[in-house]
Amino acid sequence: MTYDDSLEDIVTRRIIMAGNWKMYKTVGESLALVRALKESLAGVSDREIVVCPPFTALHAVAEALRGGNIQVGAQNLYPAEEGAYTGEVSPRMLLDVGCQFVILGHSERRQYFQEGDAFINEKLKAALEYGLKPILCVGETLEQREQGRQRSVVSAQVGRDLEGVSAEAVKQVAIAYEPIWAIGTGHTATPQQANEMHRAIREVLNGLYGGEIAQGTSILYGGSVKPGNVDELMAEPDVDGTLVGGASLEAESFIRIVSFQT
Ligand code: PGA
Repeated sequence: MTYDDSLEDIVTRRIIMAGNWKMYKTVGESLALVRALKESLAGVSDREIVVCPPFTALHAVAEALRGGNIQVGAQNLYPAEEGAYTGEVSPRMLLDVGCQFVILGHSERRQYFQEGDAFINEKLKAALEYGLKPILCVGETLEQREQGRQRSVVSAQVGRDLEGVSAEAVKQVAIAYEPIWAIGTGHTATPQQANEMHRAIREVLNGLYGGEIAQGTSILYGGSVKPGNVDELMAEPDVDGTLVGGASLEAESFIRIVSFQT
């Protein structure tokens, strides 16, 4: 089933430019970065800006950004309010330190920490229950792409990760298409490859939730987004933002990325 293109004119999608800092930056380094971002990006109002520092810097960063136009996200959560889960962080704790967003299902979590779709689905539901907005990451490996399986792999991930999530709740979810072969490698997907996969994801959403939600969901691209390629990626009709790793660690490059022009 393909979704209804006529909705394109009436549904507007949020543009979200998010930085995933991964396991980089102390509190001091984080504050230096967000102070620079805050100053340069203060006038931006037509796109959402999100930074996702490591857990240890979340509170300080959220305090520094309070009342401004840059929002804060975590990189993970554990799906329980509290409990005997040594080393884990709950959605309630993330809200407490000022987070609005949370990245879930990142390929590094899937690969290094054996997170599967069922667990990611639990996390997603927990985030939604607490009012955190998930940025759900999906993407295929190089091998899967070489076998031509990227659409089926990514479609299956989206379906499993959103299982049992209501149409009302899914409106809070942004999806990040991050081909694993493009993450941290310098090999960005071409704008056409990205757009094609974003459309495939939108078709899955259409099948699950109907055209309005399919058209209204922000789908970000991630994987070696840089100042030099962001404009052409953002020019694609189905690319509604970016999730940026390496290039979000320096003020100058992230400011340029957020300030993309199409
Ligand atoms: P990258 O990372 O921009 O360094 O490729 C993107 C991500 O992993 O979210």
